[in-house]
Amino acid sequence: MAGWKVLLPAFTLSAYFWIVTASFDSKYIKTQVFREGSNCVKDGFDAMGIMENRSRSLIHCSILCSSTENCRRFMFDKETKLCSMFESGENCITDEEVDNIICYRQKYVCNKLHCTRCPIGYYGDQCQHIIQDCSEGRSKLLFPEKKMLSFIHPSLNGPVIEVNCLFEWGGLTYIHYRNYNCLELDFNRTMDEYADGFGHPHGNYWLGLEHVYNILQNYRSFELQVVFTFDSPDWNWVQGFYYGFNISDRLDHYRVTFSFYSGSPTSPSGDSLTSGAYTINGRPFSTYDSDSSNHDCPGRFNGGWWYLDDPVCSRANVNGKRHDTSFESSWHWQDDLGDRTSFHKVNLGVVRFTS
Ligand SMILES: *[C@@H]1O[C@H](CO)[C@@H](O)[C@H](O)[C@H]1NC(C)=O
Ligand SMILES: *[C@@H]1O[C@H](CO)[C@@H](O)[C@H](O)[C@H]1NC(C)=O
Ligand SMILES: *[C@@H]1O[C@H](CO)[C@@H](O)[C@H](O)[C@H]1NC(C)=O
Repeated sequence: MAGWKVLLPAFTLSAYFWIVTASFDSKYIKTQVFREGSNCVKDGFDAMGIMENRSRSLIHCSILCSSTENCRRFMFDKETKLCSMFESGENCITDEEVDNIICYRQKYVCNKLHCTRCPIGYYGDQCQHIIQDCSEGRSKLLFPEKKMLSFIHPSLNGPVIEVNCLFEWGGLTYIHYRNYNCLELDFNRTMDEYADGFGHPHGNYWLGLEHVYNILQNYRSFELQVVFTFDSPDWNWVQGFYYGFNISDRLDHYRVTFSFYSGSPTSPSGDSLTSGAYTINGRPFSTYDSDSSNHDCPGRFNGGWWYLDDPVCSRANVNGKRHDTSFESSWHWQDDLGDRTSFHKVNLGVVRFTS
């Protein structure tokens, strides 16, 4: 009899943990944590999050997320007990010790009639549809008018991928994202890597030419937007638009075409891609292991691009190093940013052109 009194609470406690843990497992999926620079974390796509609360435990943090509107992902710091909640995204970034951080995302919960809180990018009563690109999410007015991490599914035969979306204006899908505040990512890569993509959407990344090709196949006309952001507060950013942006398939080396350039009316970037004799219109993509430039351009510029078959290679370099020993291998945009190389961010995005 004496043993009972001890056993009973112990049993109840383990049953309690079993129930809580089972419901936890059915609601959440553990995801990855990436280490990033602290300014990258502050400057990230989801830097604000929804809320940050101190929390007793991982389980408690998950309960906070479940009961918080729009929480789809949470991050728990075992050391500081900080529970951070986010509206979107699969994985987490931190500037703390990665081993102390746990990241989970919510599975969506369905009954017979409908599902609640689909991941961003998914929609429909059963979350059965996924947007093809961020313009589609914008045109269907599915998502709030802001920058978010989102899932897209550009080709039915291809994977669902995660990108940065701007659900404003026409809805921008970022295909290239370089932020000097994030850990440096090497862009000197092979054609296979440029085709599949590299990096991760919280930091620096290249989405992948195969994905870009699939996005561009889904609509009649796209615009490529180029945005440079600078350190200086007086002159903050410039922007350029390339209408009629398209690329061909892998067999044709993802040859690029544009119809015309137009600068932002208030802060034009200038045209370093299609002006005069140095237009890259019609050029195939080159990497060090698949070089159509005949002038070692991927080696000299330190990354892949649609290089010319000419010693000049290109009037632009957005895939080199931010500051390198030589001008040609450093980020630059000769028309019209001259020899200015103090870019803070360089982003390329595609948007459906409707008119
Ligand atoms: C979490 O923190 C917010 C402030 O950031 C506060 O308003 C809210 O009441 C807190 N929620 C809980 C459950 O502690
Ligand atoms: C874009 O290029 C692909 C492959 O060359 C082609 O099939 C497609 O029709 C082009 N799209 C437009 C709008 O020209
Ligand atoms: C790019 O990578 C290749 C293969 O690793 C290497 O041979 C080449 O030197 C690299 N180029 C630069 C500019 O670092």
